[in-house]
Parts: sequence; C-alpha cells; structure tokens
Amino acid sequence: MCGIIGYIGKKAAAPIILEGLRRLEYRGYDSAGLAVLGDSVLEVRKKLGKIDEGLAPLVKTSPVTGTLGIGHTRWATHGVPCDENSHPHLDASGRIAVVHNGVIENYDLLKQRLAKAGHKFKSTTDTEVLAHLIGENYAKRGGSGKEALVTSVMDALREVIGTYGLAVICADCPDLMVGARRGSPLIIGIGKDEHYVTSDANAIVAHTKKVVYLNDYDVATITAGSFEVSNLGADTANVQISNLEFSQEDAARGKHAHFMLKEIYEQPQTILNALRGRLDFEGATAKFGGLNMSMAELRSIDRIVIAASGTSWHAALVGEYLIEELAQLPVEVEFAHEFCYRNAPLEKNTVLLVLSQSGETADTLAALREAKRRGHRALAIVNVVGSTIARESDGGIYMHAGPEIGVASTKAFVSTLTVLTLLAVHLGRMRMLSANRAREIMKALEALPKQVEKILAQNETIKKLAQKYHKAEDFFFLGRGYTFPVALEGALKLKEISYIHAEGYSAAEMKHGPIALIDADTPTVFVVPQDSMYDKTMANLAMIRARKGPVIAVATAGDKAIAKVADDVIYLPPLLEPVSPILATIPLQLFAYHIAVARGCDVDKPRNLAKSVTVQ
Ligand code: G6P
Repeated sequence: MCGIIGYIGKKAAAPIILEGLRRLEYRGYDSAGLAVLGDSVLEVRKKLGKIDEGLAPLVKTSPVTGTLGIGHTRWATHGVPCDENSHPHLDASGRIAVVHNGVIENYDLLKQRLAKAGHKFKSTTDTEVLAHLIGENYAKRGGSGKEALVTSVMDALREVIGTYGLAVICADCPDLMVGARRGSPLIIGIGKDEHYVTSDANAIVAHTKKVVYLNDYDVATITAGSFEVSNLGADTANVQISNLEFSQEDAARGKHAHFMLKEIYEQPQTILNALRGRLDFEGATAKFGGLNMSMAELRSIDRIVIAASGTSWHAALVGEYLIEELAQLPVEVEFAHEFCYRNAPLEKNTVLLVLSQSGETADTLAALREAKRRGHRALAIVNVVGSTIARESDGGIYMHAGPEIGVASTKAFVSTLTVLTLLAVHLGRMRMLSANRAREIMKALEALPKQVEKILAQNETIKKLAQKYHKAEDFFFLGRGYTFPVALEGALKLKEISYIHAEGYSAAEMKHGPIALIDADTPTVFVVPQDSMYDKTMANLAMIRARKGPVIAVATAGDKAIAKVADDVIYLPPLLEPVSPILATIPLQLFAYHIAVARGCDVDKPRNLAKSVTVQ
C-alpha cells in the first residue's frame, strides 16, 4: 500500500527520500510527497501522480534543503488521490509534519472535536486529523522541545483507534524523528551517524543492512546518533537488531523491461532457493528448520485450515489438493478476511496455515491473530523475512524468493507452491505416503528449474500468441484437478495487469452456467496437461469448440490430440501431477505479461492495485 521513508543525519535528505520513494513506488503510486526541515521551517512538496511525473519535477523546480526529512507514496484509502490528500500532512501550526500508512478508524469523531476547537482541514484524509491531534497536544504542552513532541505523539496514539505506521518531524526539533507502529510495518535503518525509518526495507537496503523491526505499539525516538524505543502497552520494548538478507541489486530491475518479467525469469533460481537444504532423499522426506513443532505434534494434526488473500489464496487451493492427496489430512481453504469474522468452528487439533508473500497483508495477519487468540497453533509460509506474519506465527517456512516488486505476484506464487509440495511430502511421510512416491515427487521438484527454463525459452511464441489475442475483451481460463487453481491464477494475472475481464473456472463447472458467455470473440485458455483429468477436460474443451469459442491450450509435449482441437497450443514437458501447477502457471504469467504490454498497460504498477494491502 503506501510507503514511508524518513532520514536523519548529515547528508541532504531530499535525494535520499526521493530515491527511497522510487523504490517504494511499487507499493502505492497515486501520489507522493516529502517534507524536509530547512532553515527552521518545514518545506513540503507533494504532487498527484507517479514520482517521476509529479513529485520529482516539482522538487527540481522548487528544491528543498536540509538533513532531516520524511516522504510518502500514497495508495488512497480516505479521500481521492489529489495534491491536497497526499502526505506529508501538517498540523494547524504548520510546524509538525506526519506521514502515515494505515487507517485511523475514529478519525471522523476526532475531526469533529478538533473542528469545534477551531481546526481547519485542507484534505479529506484521516492522516491530517492525526497531525492536528499531535499538534494540539504539542501546543498544550507549551509547544517546544523534544520531550513535548514525543509525549504529544504518544498521547495522540493513545486516542486513535485503527492502524498506523508513521513518521513525524517538527520544525522545533532539528535532531528528532519520531516513528511508531501499530498494524502497519515500520523499520529503523541504522547507519553511521544517521538513521532511516521506512515501511519497507527495499527503500533503505542501498544505505544499510542493519535494521530494527518495530513491534505493535512501539514508539521510536530517533536522532542522527542514536535511537530509543518505548512501548505504549508495556514497560519495555523488545528491540532486536537484524540484518537484511538481500542486496540493492536483488531489488533492481536489471536488463528486463519490467520487474514482473524479471521475476518470471528468476523462477528457476527461486524454485532452487525454496528447495535448498530441504530435500532429504535418504529419509525420503522434506526437512524444515522453523516449523517449531515436534514430530509427535505434527503427527497429531487432524485438520489444516489454510487462510490467505489474492494470489496466495490460489496457492492455498493447490495446497489443499497436495496435502489431502499426499498426507490424507483434511484441508479447508479460507479467504483470510472471511475466516476472521465468520466464527468457523476449529477442532482441538486443527492448525492454521497462512500464506503471504509480503507477510504484511492485514486480512491474513488478522486471520493468524484470530487463530492464535482461539488457542490454535498458527504456521506461516512467507517470503519477506522479518515481516509481521513471520514474526507473529508460531513457526513457518520462508520462501527465500528475494524481493518481489512487480505488483502482480509471480515468483512468490511458484515458490509458495514449491514449499507447499515439500510440506505435503513432510506431513505425508508421517502418515501414509510411501518412501518411493515421496522420492518420485522430490525428484520431480528437483527437475523443475531446468523445465522452467524450457518454458521460458518459449517466450517469443507466447508473445506472438499475446499479440494475436490482445484485443479480446473477455477471457476464460479453465482447468480441472490440480490445474483448476492454476486457471484461477491465470485469470487473475490477466485482469490485474491488462484490465481484460477474465474468469477462472473449473472446466467442468462451465456447463452449469458460464458457457452461456462463450462466443467467437471470447477466447478460453485451457490448462490441460496429460494427467488423471485429461479425458474429462478434453470433453469440456469440445463443448467450448462446439460454441465456436477460440481455444488456447497449455498441454503436454507430444499430445497429438490437442493440436487438432485447439487454435493454439503452448507445450509443457511431461509432468508428475502434483508438481504440474508449478510449471503450468509459468506460460500463463508470460501470456498475461505480453498481453498487458501489447495493450500499453503499466505492467508493474497496474491501476487501483497495491502490492501489499495493509488495511482490512
Ligand atoms: C494484494 C496484491 C496481490 C496479493 C495479495 C496478497 O492484493 O495486489 O497480488 O496476492 O495482496 O498478498 P500477500 O503478500 O499476502 O501474498
């Protein structure tokens, strides 16, 4: 969603903030702004639009100087995207500036109270209300000095209901930046005689790898030379210095035209990373370091509920097929936001598993907390090391896919599937999965990186197909069994980045209604590898052909029958069924990518979307 960066030190703050904002822009991109403390005055620049079209040219024509500053990229929650609603927001005196991620739920009540006291607001945001509240507290405390500012921030945060990751600076305090978090991440970056705050380590990894992840209710008092953390709810804060595991190069686009393409091409490596050190051929099982459950505890699980959002939810569906088949354990997949509020019964030996690339999705985090509140063990498969979900789960498995910047998730989906397959083998081997079958699956996993490369080598063919179909306004994506969730994910990728209306269905379900929409202008992508569902899916395909619907098939190399019935075919190598979702996904990612490019869409920053949604 929105992104925060702040700097305090000896260097000019504005270039550091602008560069940090560019690295954060994938999180939110409707507007951006910064505030730098100049000669005892806060200089604020903010502008609607992407950084290089709005804020950067503005800062060029109207420069700001100073060594303390905060900046923000916005993804609108309260109020339309416009200059006024962009952050930073100032208090009534104009001497306190605030950038904020999250939502202040009681902002309306607070606003009415402040308005009665004479406050005038320039924006329709909840953040401006928070800035005024801090300013009012500060004025009451005599309006000067570090201690007054920190206490004013803390008092304001005690009054607000909702979520925040925020940074505050004040014209009276040239050596102070205040940071705080509740429900929305905030990280302190430690440099030599300088500090950073950010909501996302990507923004600061070029400057430092030493970081502190703040916990909920933490308030940090940061100067150039030191920082202190206190907690609004506890006597002491738990401060741990961590090292970032990725580099600036990992978070850069390199030679690729878009981050999404780069991330699609990284998949042979990211699959390897997900498998590294986890294949135990001798014991015919997978090994994990961080599940934090004994064999006996894992053996006593009776049911797994998997909760996730968006693309991760599609991965969860694959997880259900895998764990039920290989471990014979009942699995239920829930949208994280539904799980939290529908009071689903959870039996004693049920474990919740959440899946999240970012580890910050508010809905998924809420599901994790709900399960824990109800006394259940909550495990997580997460990509971002040190993220809130990673830290709050009872145990879990990292994907090790490296930073995913493209808003449409690609490599993280495939990594999640890889880890889920390993987990299914691990759980299966404690139950009924034979050593031979486990080894067969593990070998199939080991073979994946080379097979992915073969699919990537078909990029030009897929690009041509995209050019042929890019003008269609409606698409169907169909699959059965293991490839049903792949069809859902293929449709989601296409709609996210090309804005084409696309529906994913089980191929079998089409005949129960959606087939009414098929005509000669509505192409269908059939994911139809030669697996146990092949004959049935081919029969479903014939129904689409009979209604003159164009068919693009993703099928197994050597399948002669498919070439006769499909208009176009993308071939996969012959596959073991449980790993087929991993490979079958990749042509669909490339297809969506090339269609979006052909339609002139901004692939890495699709309209209305945010990479990590930290509000419910
Ligand atoms: C957002 C993104 C989706 C993503 C979903 C879940 O909606 O736009 O691409 O799949 O969040 O993200 P997570 O980080 O929890 O996997």
